[in-house]
Amino acid sequence: MKVLVTGGAGYIGSILTRLLIDKGYDVIVLDRLFFGLDPVKDILDRIKLYKDDVRWFDPSILKGVDAVMDLAALSNDPSGELDPAKTMEINYRGRVRVANLSKKYGVKRYILASSCSVYGFQDGILNEGSETKPLTTYAKANLMAEKEVLPLADKDFSVTVLRQATVYGLSYRMRFDLAINGMTRGLYLNGKIPILRDGTQWRPFVHVKDTSNAFITVLESDVELVNGEIFNVGSNDQNVQIFDLARRVASACGVEFRYEWYGDPDRRSYRVSFDKISERLGYKTRYTIEMGAREIWDALQNGLVDPNDPRTITVKWYKHLLETRDFIKEIEIDGKLL
Ligand SMILES: NC(=O)c1ccc[n+]([C@@H]2O[C@H](COP(=O)([O-])OP(=O)(O)OC[C@H]3O[C@@H](n4cnc5c(N)ncnc54)[C@H](O)[C@@H]3O)[C@@H](O)[C@H]2O)c1
Repeated sequence: MKVLVTGGAGYIGSILTRLLIDKGYDVIVLDRLFFGLDPVKDILDRIKLYKDDVRWFDPSILKGVDAVMDLAALSNDPSGELDPAKTMEINYRGRVRVANLSKKYGVKRYILASSCSVYGFQDGILNEGSETKPLTTYAKANLMAEKEVLPLADKDFSVTVLRQATVYGLSYRMRFDLAINGMTRGLYLNGKIPILRDGTQWRPFVHVKDTSNAFITVLESDVELVNGEIFNVGSNDQNVQIFDLARRVASACGVEFRYEWYGDPDRRSYRVSFDKISERLGYKTRYTIEMGAREIWDALQNGLVDPNDPRTITVKWYKHLLETRDFIKEIEIDGKLL
């Protein structure tokens, strides 16, 4: 079975791609490689890689593809504000293009990587039927894409939206701009965890392997259970208040809990229900916050990830790419330009 993963060289995509290969799927990756080739370099002989853009790739690569997992995007709120028009082009129109072309080329299943950020910040426990209140360009583009791809669902084309919690854990394209990862990095570099004031705000979290497994669970579920559906991805017990989160990160790393405050008090607080994906698809998360923090801590201690690699802070890297116009740089593999 052939699966095409857009954004397959990204933080989630580079894990998802490996899990798919291990399960015996034929994997095609479509990615601009904004963060370079390193995240997929060691699996190039096991995937088909297209260095291309969701906005203008040649759709003939979709011929014979059974499923598309659509992860390519400018992947957080601050990156989405650098150039809001470009964010809409990629995160909204780019995804709608991928979904429409998938349907046209006979792909059977399409899965959109969306985000719990579409809920905005509301009191109570939010489920898939809750009102959406996207606050940023990034969140708005996610919701607009959801609204346009879901109606494409029919008996021959299954469409599923996954609203992922904030992800954590070690990946081949490391991101230190995500809460748990950034806390672990702060502890490693300065002996203190940076905590956004006032620490009482709630957030939902999910490990990068668990969220990747959600894509595979959807792919392998009966089509009637997933077609035209939205699922929140995470687990109820990983809704956590930020101050408690910091304490747990320090404890997992086995060091004294020391911290420093930053920013203005963050009034944005929300909790999410993950009942639907667990009850309907039997999906369960396997990783804990402690496991995620610990694996990053160990990787930092052992020099396996560079805490100062500029590519690990997504918004800074995109800003750099915009300023240096590095968007068109080619990458050579085996004498061929990708
Ligand atoms: N990481 C999280 O906490 C989280 C939470 C909720 C939702 N999401 C969503 O999951 C998806 C993956 O997130 P991630 O954390 O892996 O982000 P990432 O930035 O690590 O990966 C995104 C990948 O998409 C590629 N890309 C960007 N624009 C492209 C374009 N125009 N054409 C082709 N490729 C392009 C990049 O090169 C990168 O490899 C995104 O859609 C993101 O919005 C992530």
